[in-house]
Amino acid sequence: MKLWGGRFTKSTDSFTDHFHSSISFDKRMYKQDIAGSIAHADMLGEQGIISKEDAELIKKTLTEILDDISKGNVTFDEKAEDIHMNIETILIERIGDVGKRLHTGRSRNDQVALDLRMYLKEEISEIKELIKKLLSVLNKTAKENIDTIMPGYTHLQNAQPVTFAHHLLAYTEMFKRDYDRLSDCHKRTNVMPLGAGALASTTYPLNRELVCESLGFDSITLNSMDSVSDRDFSAELLYCMSMVMMHLSRFCEEIILWSNQQFKFIELSDAYSTGSSIMPQKKNPDMAELIRGKTGRVYGDLMGFLTVMKGLPLAYNKDMQEDKESVFDAVDTVKMCMPVFTAMIETMKINKENMRMAAKGGFMNATDAADWLVKHGVPFRDAHAVIGQMVLYCIENSKALEDLSIEEMKKFSGVFDESVFEAISLEKCVEARRVDGGPSKWYIEKLIAFNEEFISGL
Ligand code: ARG
Repeated sequence: MKLWGGRFTKSTDSFTDHFHSSISFDKRMYKQDIAGSIAHADMLGEQGIISKEDAELIKKTLTEILDDISKGNVTFDEKAEDIHMNIETILIERIGDVGKRLHTGRSRNDQVALDLRMYLKEEISEIKELIKKLLSVLNKTAKENIDTIMPGYTHLQNAQPVTFAHHLLAYTEMFKRDYDRLSDCHKRTNVMPLGAGALASTTYPLNRELVCESLGFDSITLNSMDSVSDRDFSAELLYCMSMVMMHLSRFCEEIILWSNQQFKFIELSDAYSTGSSIMPQKKNPDMAELIRGKTGRVYGDLMGFLTVMKGLPLAYNKDMQEDKESVFDAVDTVKMCMPVFTAMIETMKINKENMRMAAKGGFMNATDAADWLVKHGVPFRDAHAVIGQMVLYCIENSKALEDLSIEEMKKFSGVFDESVFEAISLEKCVEARRVDGGPSKWYIEKLIAFNEEFISGL
């Protein structure tokens, strides 16, 4: 008979058993389920709700079950529906009536909320570690490329020169925010729901604070109905995962572009590339593409989850069993992508010379040339027009601004003198931007030192 079979006269259809069972995906929470049950049993014993001897036997047996599951010696049963009832069934098989006392003052509704929070707390911590690793690789690579000049783009058209360090550190900022968002999400996940019962708490004198403390939560939930129906923490985590993937995906897009033959800014290590089954010359950035592609499934997880939750009345509804696969899939995906991505960055070869050459094209010093005129008394709009005409002249004559002679320049504005050449050199264009947040060496060195300290404090 099912653990809840008392009021039923017929058994469930076997396909129904398969249909509503969640064991295939919630079995991954067995550690959390058992830890929660041990804390609950302990508290029941402390409060005199069950005898201390019974509590001890339950705790001991649960620990043995945990050991057996970890060793792969337990086969779960679909008919027992989910991880909660599977473990309880095994407990009862092993210690009979005493095992039947465990579920006193508890419902699977608060139990599943507890397990999921505990499980996701661990996942959050693991993912934060992966982000930390990526941050230090980015910072290290940036440090090696403080002087590597490359084109900065807007509209994917050459805009102004920057350095590769500056470009990488833009991503560092994104991943720092991702890290912070996860810490924030952890705060709201770190609240203990057990004691809410099915929805209206329980008539037993539970000590929720004791359970909270023994499971290492920050505080307890404050409304029993909210406790069993709140899945905001999962939604938040799914959003955090979507953001991480969005950042990885944008970065991957650039990796793909940079390794293209027309760019050749980087070369991926063979370990993170693949060949073609037909074209012998090919070396493809498949890993970067796959990470970009997997972003779609994580966004899908978020959207699917939000859609499951949107029409649910209070309190628990079985729809909520559908919460787990999406959030599990999202964290699994991020946990797979992060290490591959980090290693890909760590092992890629950077073609500094090609980056520099690309920065020479596209008149990226045009703004600086205009600024030079402004600093010599020409109003900005006029300076803009003068340089615009010079650019046109250069295009017609296949030259760069710095290739013009001073005589040629003077035809466009009498203000020009030799000192303009220094002002429009690539190095100067970067160095002159001595603003907090800008690409100059002075600032980038400060930022890298700051990040180093920041990362080691995480
Ligand atoms: N497997 C269920 C879930 O994941 C556990 C809670 C079931 N509660 C219930 N009253 N049917 O949501």
